[in-house]
Amino acid sequence: MNITSAVFRCSSQKLSQCPADNRWEFAFIGRSNVGKSSLINMLTDSPALAKVSATPGKTRLINHFLINGCWYLVDLPGYGYARVSKGQRKEFSKLILDYILKREQMYFLFVLVDSRLEPQKIDLDFMSLLGEHGIPFGIVFTKCDKLSANQTESNIARYRRTLLESWEELPPIFRTSSEKRQGREPILDFIGTCLAD
Ligand code: GTP
Ligand code: MG
Repeated sequence: MNITSAVFRCSSQKLSQCPADNRWEFAFIGRSNVGKSSLINMLTDSPALAKVSATPGKTRLINHFLINGCWYLVDLPGYGYARVSKGQRKEFSKLILDYILKREQMYFLFVLVDSRLEPQKIDLDFMSLLGEHGIPFGIVFTKCDKLSANQTESNIARYRRTLLESWEELPPIFRTSSEKRQGREPILDFIGTCLAD
């Protein structure tokens, strides 16, 4: 799958503001600062398409990017960010839950986790919620440039073991570094296969 055009379409504060067309959407979710916006920029080869920040909580709205004029990449706000106002501090905000539970155009959700960390409860809880609702998802291990290849693989193996304690089957797993521009093709090819179905 090649990306020949990537265009910002809109930012939505609520589900009803999201594009009304029926194009498929591939969305990116995960804890604040895990690298969702950076990954979208890497995949689209557009360094400034999605706003990136070293400060967690940068993406607060649902952002739609139209790809090749026919499907969307969707940048979602991060969850689990403590330094926001009380009303916004629910673990998974209403905006995120509305999108993942109700958005019929969403074909697949990429759940990003930091490859440096041991499995975090908030991510495992989020994946359980996806499982309960039958939402198709995969896991993207981000920031793989931060550790040695061996350490990254050992962390991913630990993650798989943890998942297998509660899941019978593992979801698709991807490894990325937006910094080193690694892991682009497997994700784009996966999307390409979905769209060809
Ligand atoms: P929120 O919108 O706040 O939820 O964050 P986000 O998940 O969109 O993260 P974002 O892409 O804004 O990146 C957060 C920080 O991590 C930035 O300082 C990025 O430069 C850095 N970062 C993202 N991806 C990578 C990566 O693959 N490697 C390294 N070394 N840094 C990364
Ligand atoms: Mg972001």
